[in-house]
Amino acid sequence: MTRDVLGIDVGGSSVKAALVDVASGRITGEVVSVPTPQPSTPAALLDVFTQLDQRLPTRGPVGVALPCVVQHGVTRTAANIDKGWIDHDCAGALRTRFSRPAAVLNDADAAGIAEMRWGAGRGTRGVAIVLTFGTGIGSAIFNDGALLPNTEFGHLEMDGRDAEHTASARVRTVEQLDWPAWAERVNVYLARMHGLFWPDVFILGGAVSENFAHFSSLLKSPAEIRAAQFAGQAGLVGAAMAAAHEEDMG
Ligand code: BGC
Repeated sequence: MTRDVLGIDVGGSSVKAALVDVASGRITGEVVSVPTPQPSTPAALLDVFTQLDQRLPTRGPVGVALPCVVQHGVTRTAANIDKGWIDHDCAGALRTRFSRPAAVLNDADAAGIAEMRWGAGRGTRGVAIVLTFGTGIGSAIFNDGALLPNTEFGHLEMDGRDAEHTASARVRTVEQLDWPAWAERVNVYLARMHGLFWPDVFILGGAVSENFAHFSSLLKSPAEIRAAQFAGQAGLVGAAMAAAHEEDMG
C-alpha cells in the first residue's frame, strides 16, 4: 500500500520538505526548500511547517527532523537553532496545529533511519555509524539495524573544541578549506569515533556527500566508508518514516 507522508527536515540554513511514499522510501514529487527563519524560534518554524504543509497537501501524518536531542516529542537541546527549542513540546504543538498524528526526532537519527532502511545501510549487520556533515555534525549509531538515539557525537571534544567546530561542512566553507585539508580533519574525527565504537561501516551523509567523489579517496579508516544514498534528503525521508510509524502505533 502506498502512503504519502509529509517529511520536514530543519537545517541551519534551510528547511526542506517533501511527500514520501513510506512503503518504498521514495520522494513523490518535488522537494521544497525554504530558508530557515532567523531567529529560528519554535513559533517561526511552526509557521514555516504550516506553509510547507499547504504547498505539499496530504492527509497523512507529519514528521519533523530537528537538530536537537528529542525525547518523546520534546526537544531538549538547541546547538544550531534558537534556544527556545530547549524543553519544547514540539510533537504536542504539531498535533495541535495540524490535527494529525505527528512525530519529531533528531535530524541525524532521521537520516540514519532512512539510510539503514532504504539507502546505503540497507541490510547492514553489526555496527553502522551514520554521520551527517552540514551546519553541524550529526551522528546516528545502529547495531544490527537498531538505533541508539540522540548520540550527539558532533560535540565530541577534539583539541578542546567540539568536533563539529573543526570538521563540519559549514567549517569547510567558512574557512575555505580545500578537499584535502577538510578530509584530514574528517579523518581525525573518524579515527576518534573508530577508537570508541569500532564500527563496521561509516555512512557519510549531509549535502556535502553529493561531492563524495571529490574526497572519498582522501578518507581513511579501518571501517568501510560509504556515501549516503539520500545525501541531503535523508532527514526528511526518515522524518516521514517516523511519522508513519507513530501513526501505526496509534
Ligand atoms: C546538533 C545535533 C544535530 C547535528 C546535525 C548538532 O549541532 O547538536 O542534534 O544532529 O548538529 O544537524
